[in-house]
Amino acid sequence: MSAGHGVKGLAELGLKTLPQQYIQPPHERFDSSDDDEEQPNNDTIPVIDMSNWDDPKVAEAVCDAARKWGFFQVVNHGVPIHVLQDVKHATRQFFGFPAEEKRKYSKERSVTNNVRFGTSFTPEAEKALEWKDYLSLFFVSDDEAASLWPPVCRNQALEYVKSSEPVVKKLLAILMKGLNVKEIDESKESMLMGSKRINLNYYPKCPNPELTVGVGRDSDVSTLTILLQDEIGGLYVRNTETMKWIHVPPVSGSLVINVGDALQIMSNGNYKSVEHRVVANGSSNRISVPIFVNPRPSDVIGPLPEVLESGEKQIYKNVLYKDYVMHFFSKAHDGKATVEFAK
Ligand code: SIN
Repeated sequence: MSAGHGVKGLAELGLKTLPQQYIQPPHERFDSSDDDEEQPNNDTIPVIDMSNWDDPKVAEAVCDAARKWGFFQVVNHGVPIHVLQDVKHATRQFFGFPAEEKRKYSKERSVTNNVRFGTSFTPEAEKALEWKDYLSLFFVSDDEAASLWPPVCRNQALEYVKSSEPVVKKLLAILMKGLNVKEIDESKESMLMGSKRINLNYYPKCPNPELTVGVGRDSDVSTLTILLQDEIGGLYVRNTETMKWIHVPPVSGSLVINVGDALQIMSNGNYKSVEHRVVANGSSNRISVPIFVNPRPSDVIGPLPEVLESGEKQIYKNVLYKDYVMHFFSKAHDGKATVEFAK
């Protein structure tokens, strides 16, 4: 079985045991005693209703969640439910294609680096692989998406990217205000949301889920990530106070939002980009569709002047975003280590 079949191809062979290369070292496996849901007085990731998004209470909830958790869910966010359903349906259709069809978009064969079908995270750098396949689509322009994204999902993925833009802008306006940034001018807008990548993720049912991971511990390199998940669940977030893992339960019609490293750096650490992971599932296939809202590769990112005005000590240096991303993709998932690159 070649790597081009992905883990979905392996799962469909009806394996009874997990192949050796997916067995994670014990400290990377999910231990249910780490799970904060079994603790008394558990705290949960906030679910924020965005229908009155200009209400100061909403702004307070968003900024508090970004400071404390780095994660929250939004409902009544304005992205039409049919757009979310369509992109989930298109994701299942893409992964339902024969291996040969999906392989057209693999690293070896894709006509562009902006469209990539792959498996695990960085297989060439990983000691143990992750139990996940993905299609990654870097958004450059409508024309490029129309000609190069796989026809089965291009309109649905594009519609999802476009329809999520207003909620991204609202959230960034709120988060910037919370940092004393009054206006998002053109150069700030580029730094906050100048480029976007959408991933379609597929996590097949796994014969030994306790021995592997869907996604290993990492934090995102984005400004913000907008994640659509299906009803299966499996995303866990680190509570940075207790170090326990908190499940992000699927909430119908919601989007999961998280602060990425770029925003942690720009906010000088006031907003947290938090470690998260995805467990493998022994009984169901799972899909998720994150949009990574990023600076442009040519942007230099660093703590915003408005944040430092109050005399706060600058904890991150300025870095070229392209270098930051290259560093992230040069290694296996290793928790929150990438952010050290900007120290
Ligand atoms: C990711 O962290 O890249 C994906 C998260 C998820 O599938 O829930």
